[in-house]
Amino acid sequence: MFLTRLALINFRNYTHLELELPPGAIVLRGDNAQGKTNLLEAVFFLATTRATFTRAERQVMNWQALQEDPFPYTRLEGCVQRSKGIFRVDITLLPTENGQIHKEMRLNGVKKRALDVVGQLNAVLFLPEDIVLVTGAPVLRRRYLDITLCQINPAYCRALSSYNQVLLQRNALLKQLAERRRGEDQLAYWDHQLAEHGAVLIATRYEAIYQLDQLARERYRTLSGDGECLRLSYAPSFDPENRPVIDYQRPLHLEDLWPERPASLPVPEVAQAFLQRLERTRREEIARGMTVSGPHRDDMHFLVDGVDMTLYGSRGQQRSTALALKLAEMDLMSRVTGETPVLLLDDVMSELDARRREHVMSAVQGVQQLIITTTDWNDFAPEFLAGAHRLQVVAGRITQVAHE
Ligand SMILES: Nc1ncnc2c1ncn2[C@@H]1O[C@H](COP(=O)(O)OP(=O)(O)O)[C@@H](O)[C@H]1O
Ligand SMILES: [Mg+2]
Repeated sequence: MFLTRLALINFRNYTHLELELPPGAIVLRGDNAQGKTNLLEAVFFLATTRATFTRAERQVMNWQALQEDPFPYTRLEGCVQRSKGIFRVDITLLPTENGQIHKEMRLNGVKKRALDVVGQLNAVLFLPEDIVLVTGAPVLRRRYLDITLCQINPAYCRALSSYNQVLLQRNALLKQLAERRRGEDQLAYWDHQLAEHGAVLIATRYEAIYQLDQLARERYRTLSGDGECLRLSYAPSFDPENRPVIDYQRPLHLEDLWPERPASLPVPEVAQAFLQRLERTRREEIARGMTVSGPHRDDMHFLVDGVDMTLYGSRGQQRSTALALKLAEMDLMSRVTGETPVLLLDDVMSELDARRREHVMSAVQGVQQLIITTTDWNDFAPEFLAGAHRLQVVAGRITQVAHE
């Protein structure tokens, strides 16, 4: 699939942008702080209806408009060509009294819920800061998984939103019970709800990581080129398989730990096991006034030759891991949707050595549309540039660069 048109009003430093886009490779060049990252972020926002896993939604509204316009708003609009036809997505952001943002989404001009808009356009975004996926806290990896899976799996998206609501209610009840020890009979209802929605999250994450593990292993092999092996491992807070706890502080052999893994887990059985666990830990949960295990506490691990990259990775290994994961995500999306997502690569070339650059460029040849940013045209081979659509950005204004 590919974007044919992008229009922005008051999105970060783009006060007014209208851009026609061709399929194929698009290179956006600009000096620092001109709007390269912002443009990619806008496309990602259209795909996911939200900011990336590291960024805050409120900050995308142009601050000058917020201060000076009597009725400030931000609008993003994209036209997308997919195999099933052309459609238009638009998202409008309005500030509310309490400093939050109100979002309105439309598909072909018809108002929709976020659930129905997410994943209409599929995009994979790689930012240099994505290295925190590997180095950062578990919450970032969960948010990453959620955003990725919501793009390709509407049932996951629904389960996630229900799970989060149920979790809030259940925690409130547990807290109450901790204080006044009445109403324990209500817990059974919330346990069932939590187990039902939680099981969808666990099984979907399990299956996705199972596939990402294979895809990222392949991507990492070509990226690193020195025979290192990347493995992904799901670390569910509640493990339906009841495996012994794994110590990631020392080098591991995944093959030894679990030689034959099923590709997927049956949701009803996971739900059943989760429910039993909740019943077993009821006393503890009431005493602590909170839900102690479940997908809201999940994590995942990246192992290179059995060594946990979050704990022990070198900067270069961590960067390659994050990039391999993003390329694997692209592969997974293509597999699930039957079309390549729009690939958005922010400033990747500057961080990579010549061999890795080459690998990245050959890795992206199959995508229908790639938008890649740079500060320097010379980051790219002349043959690549000759075939690319070239854009230049200065202070939120984009112009097309002719081929000489
Ligand atoms: N909400 C906002 N309103 C206006 N300008 C913004 C907003 N957020 C970021 N900017 C501006 O956008 C510019 C950074 O754009 P960015 O796309 O990150 O640059 P780069 O080209 O280096 O990737 C900075 O000048 C910053 O001040
Ligand atoms: Mg940037």
